Amino acid sequence: MTKEQKIDAAVKALFGGISFTQEPEGLYDPLRYMIEIGGKRLRPRLCLTTYSLYKDGFTPEILEPAAGLEVFHSFTLIHDDIMDRSPLRRGVDTVWKKWNPDTAILSGDVMCIDSYSRIARGPREVMAPLMELFSRTAAQVCEGQQYDMEFESRETVSMDEYIRMIGLKTGVLIACAAKMGALIAGAPGEDCDNLYDYGFNLGLAFQIADDYLDAFGDEKVFGKPIGGDIVNSKKSWLTVHAFGKADPATKARLAEAMAAPAPTREDEAAKIASVKAVYEALGVDTDAKAAIMDYTSKALGCAVKAVDGIRFEMLRRFAQKLVGRTK
Ligand code: IPE
Ligand code: IPE
Ligand code: MG
Ligand code: MG
Ligand code: MG
Repeated sequence: MTKEQKIDAAVKALFGGISFTQEPEGLYDPLRYMIEIGGKRLRPRLCLTTYSLYKDGFTPEILEPAAGLEVFHSFTLIHDDIMDRSPLRRGVDTVWKKWNPDTAILSGDVMCIDSYSRIARGPREVMAPLMELFSRTAAQVCEGQQYDMEFESRETVSMDEYIRMIGLKTGVLIACAAKMGALIAGAPGEDCDNLYDYGFNLGLAFQIADDYLDAFGDEKVFGKPIGGDIVNSKKSWLTVHAFGKADPATKARLAEAMAAPAPTREDEAAKIASVKAVYEALGVDTDAKAAIMDYTSKALGCAVKAVDGIRFEMLRRFAQKLVGRTK
């Protein structure tokens, strides 16, 4: 078995023993649901990948924190779907939709707590920096989510502000996953920091791809409703870049299309179509792909400072898989 096959097998087995059978069922059923419906499991996979750069074989001291990253991520999605009024996730009903928002809030809370107890099962020798890293990351994700919501009602958002926002809501958790694997493996501090930067830039590319797929993906593959960002007037990479690129008349057309209320399904479809028409006319869909490539290259520039040879190749292949993602 190659290292990557071993990582794949470990990621698959990660939640095999976790069943969340505690009571009351009303609290734990949504957790089980979220974990069982799966997802890409990107963050634990990245954590096990950077760990494997330094150590062979997996013990609970790395597997439990890796699982903690996924539980934490799934918790943020449960709350995110309430905030984004999103009905579909991973191809099925979101928790707030299947149960109700109150249940989604409380089940999300207990999931966040569960993630901390898994991080706490990491090696004692690195517990202080591990907890520090994870807690700081968790707070930053909340900060990013707040900016994301505030931007919905802002008329303009600069590219710098946008990048800062996605760095917080998405970049830091992927960065944390990359650093955590190295930290738990006992890697040198400098490597840990370079791997953090690798994960961070990969995270930026990942969120730009998410924004792209939200408008131009295939709902059946992506598992989320296409056009949700447009309906919510989100300042996605596409929006921010389009405003930066458009002439005054096109800017006005885009602003009008984005501001249109969409009370019915027909209104939603019309809003999505008119915004996408502007995106396509400006070529921002093509530009998004270039931006994803740029941040991925940047990520690899950080990775090469930490490792070389076949170890670097592992990180390159990991990044490569994300570039062409359709879900
Ligand atoms: C979705 O994350 C939220 C973003 C940060 C874009 P993923 O795309 O990793 O979602 P799952 O876990 O695979 O469903
Ligand atoms: C989500 O960003 C980031 C976090 C959950 C922290 P999005 O709102 O774009 O994620 P999706 O598209 O709903 O997965
Ligand atoms: Mg959101
Ligand atoms: Mg969302
Ligand atoms: Mg999205």
